[in-house]
Amino acid sequence: MNEATPERADLVRIPTGIPGLDEMIEKGFPFPSVILVSGTAGTGKTTFALRFLCEGAARGEQGLYFTTLSEPTQWMLRFSSQFDFMKPEYFDNEIVYEDLGDHLRSGDSDKLIEVIEKRIAEVVPQRIVIDPITVVGEMFGENYRQFLFDLTNRLKNWNATTVVTGEVRPGELYPPEISYAVDGIVLLHLSEELGARRKYLEVLKMRGTNHLTGKHSIDISRKEGMVVLKARF
Ligand SMILES: Nc1ncnc2c1ncn2[C@@H]1O[C@H](COP(=O)(O)OP(=O)(O)OP(=O)(O)O)[C@@H](O)[C@H]1O
Ligand SMILES: [Mg+2]
Repeated sequence: MNEATPERADLVRIPTGIPGLDEMIEKGFPFPSVILVSGTAGTGKTTFALRFLCEGAARGEQGLYFTTLSEPTQWMLRFSSQFDFMKPEYFDNEIVYEDLGDHLRSGDSDKLIEVIEKRIAEVVPQRIVIDPITVVGEMFGENYRQFLFDLTNRLKNWNATTVVTGEVRPGELYPPEISYAVDGIVLLHLSEELGARRKYLEVLKMRGTNHLTGKHSIDISRKEGMVVLKARF
């Protein structure tokens, strides 16, 4: 008698664009999924998010970048144009930029989710970024947890992989209220050794994925944005 053996349904994956990272996580982020990229100020969260979107753009995928910081498009254009992988023609085409600042100030979390979903429905992206999500917590107070729960659930229903970035204070690893709701967590660390500041990346969790653990050195450069170096910490 043949007993049906449950077959492992391989997850669809999309390459992150960060050289070295895909090899750590079985070739890329699960698709669809919501991934948290967490780190203190200046650890490379925005660089990571931009590289992720540009990888998609280079493959003909649609990207949608939500900022929560009320940064003008010009600022983003300047920031991104320093990188060799960013083509100016991506803007407003393969990468659509959307500022959520005004909607945040209203403090209405249902409205914010509505705005985000409306834009997703219009742009139909395969790759979404919300950078940084933690600003919403500062604006929404007690509604924040419910907002995160609703938002991540909605995002998982779209055919897209979303990177949300979280800014933490030194000594903290990730924003605790988000961690349970996401499918994956990538930590960006900054540490000072022998007087030199060094940056590391660590995959803390990745649903359905055999991933490498531990801190891996990273480099940030104009050419590649972010690269995971081979040597282990
Ligand atoms: N061309 C470059 N070469 C080397 N390092 C760079 C380069 N551009 C940026 N960096 C490094 O990357 C950091 C900024 O990265 P990024 O803005 O992506 O970080 P972030 O985590 O988003 O910061 P924030 O908390 O301000 O949003 C800088 O602090 C700098 O150390
Ligand atoms: Mg940033």
